[in-house]
Amino acid sequence: MQTDSSFTFVLFGGTGDLSMRKILPALYEAHRAGGMLADSGKIVAVARHVADRAAYIDWVNEHVKPHVSKNGVDETAWASFLDRIEFVKIDLGNPEDFTLLRDALSGRPGIRVFYLATGPSLFVPICRALASVGLNENSRIVLEKPLGYDLKSSNAINDAVGEIFAEEQIYRIDHYLGKEPVQNLLALRFGNVLFEPLWRREWVESIQITIAEELGVEARGDFYDNTGALRDMVQNHLLQLLSIVAMEPPHSMDSDSVRDEKLRVLRALKPIDPRDIGKVAVRGQYHAGVIRGSAVPAYATEPGVKPDSTTETFVAVKVEIENWRWAGVPFFLRTGKRLADRVAEIVVNFRAVPHSALGASALRGGANRLVIRLQPNETIRLYCLAKQPGEGMNLASVHLDLAFDRFFREGQMEAYQRLLLDVINGRLALFVRRDEQEAAWRWVEPILNEWATANKPPKPYAAGTWGPAAASAMLAQHGTCWLEEEN
Ligand code: BG6
Repeated sequence: MQTDSSFTFVLFGGTGDLSMRKILPALYEAHRAGGMLADSGKIVAVARHVADRAAYIDWVNEHVKPHVSKNGVDETAWASFLDRIEFVKIDLGNPEDFTLLRDALSGRPGIRVFYLATGPSLFVPICRALASVGLNENSRIVLEKPLGYDLKSSNAINDAVGEIFAEEQIYRIDHYLGKEPVQNLLALRFGNVLFEPLWRREWVESIQITIAEELGVEARGDFYDNTGALRDMVQNHLLQLLSIVAMEPPHSMDSDSVRDEKLRVLRALKPIDPRDIGKVAVRGQYHAGVIRGSAVPAYATEPGVKPDSTTETFVAVKVEIENWRWAGVPFFLRTGKRLADRVAEIVVNFRAVPHSALGASALRGGANRLVIRLQPNETIRLYCLAKQPGEGMNLASVHLDLAFDRFFREGQMEAYQRLLLDVINGRLALFVRRDEQEAAWRWVEPILNEWATANKPPKPYAAGTWGPAAASAMLAQHGTCWLEEEN
């Protein structure tokens, strides 16, 4: 998309992991593509432990460059990208330093974006310091997850930030919403007549949403050990995916139409009775195991993790939605670290035909199934029954495959690139509104509380497997099983 709207993109946490791996590479890609960022747009990095711009540029060359572009770096584009970068040294513990930032930003054209790629404990102090030097006007603020630790702490941050920035200025990132296939889910559901009539309780038996990772906690053991999979993945990414899968058709794609519909789903989630948590939620923690032929250590021995940690690295949970479209249809959500494969997918299991003239095999549930794979490769697979060749009428499972890279060879965009362009251009649809976030916290909170007080350790699973057996047993009670296909 061509743009000439100027901007100044101020990056707090300019030497952090997220800036290194995601934010600066995404800005580089937008720059390299040409026409996406106004020529006059600048990036102002803010950090404490770097002496000056020259030292920051050295850091960017050393740490960011290896993370850009799978297809190699375009050196000319890289050099002109570096020209966009400026630097202001600020000690966040010293609010007076913000006058330096104010001076550096004064008189610039266009919108100001403040990206807080810092821990959530700094969100409020940074916002207050920005307001103290008048930088909250004509600005947008981007908040990374996790936004708080529970409903109370998230409300405290939202209240404090809300006193300084209006809701339309606040961009809460959930990077799953920026993924191309998640956008495509909207196109699939609302751009076709084929699926929508079947997308309801009469025809759908159950839905699964999985985000499985092979990676462990990497260098984030300390953060993760205080967070766990429920807060890290379910409260945000999985519930956001669920809300897009289950929402009613919005009347347009403007930001509030989409977010209103997602909110309705989040508010319709059946509250979990604390006495039922053992039946509808499974938590696990990985022990030592083998992934793709290599031995990997147990979670409890990872750097930064307490040896007696009871933090979950795996969650499976059954969700129900209390509305006419979905009453009685279980949604099974699952996520985990150090699982057998890296895959994110949505599986819609349709009901069996009501009567089969073709024999018992056509009455099997799960014969029709739509598998929407978000990663590692973007595909949609529709399973049907077909007649096996030869004598008699024997049915066998076949599938129609849609691999998007066969149709669209170019133009793919990383989630962060799309989301950063949306912030710069003032498009809010792919950002989480405060009320959505609150509804999601409200729903997960009974599980968090129960797990915190029950004093039971998570169920162990070996790294490289699909998680604790209890997660499969939960589905077996509903006569179904997790779909585990080869990549
Ligand atoms: C992040 C979580 O939000 O999402 C990480 O904090 C997780 O723990 C990551 O690894 C997964 O994202 P993706 O895009 O790699 O599936």
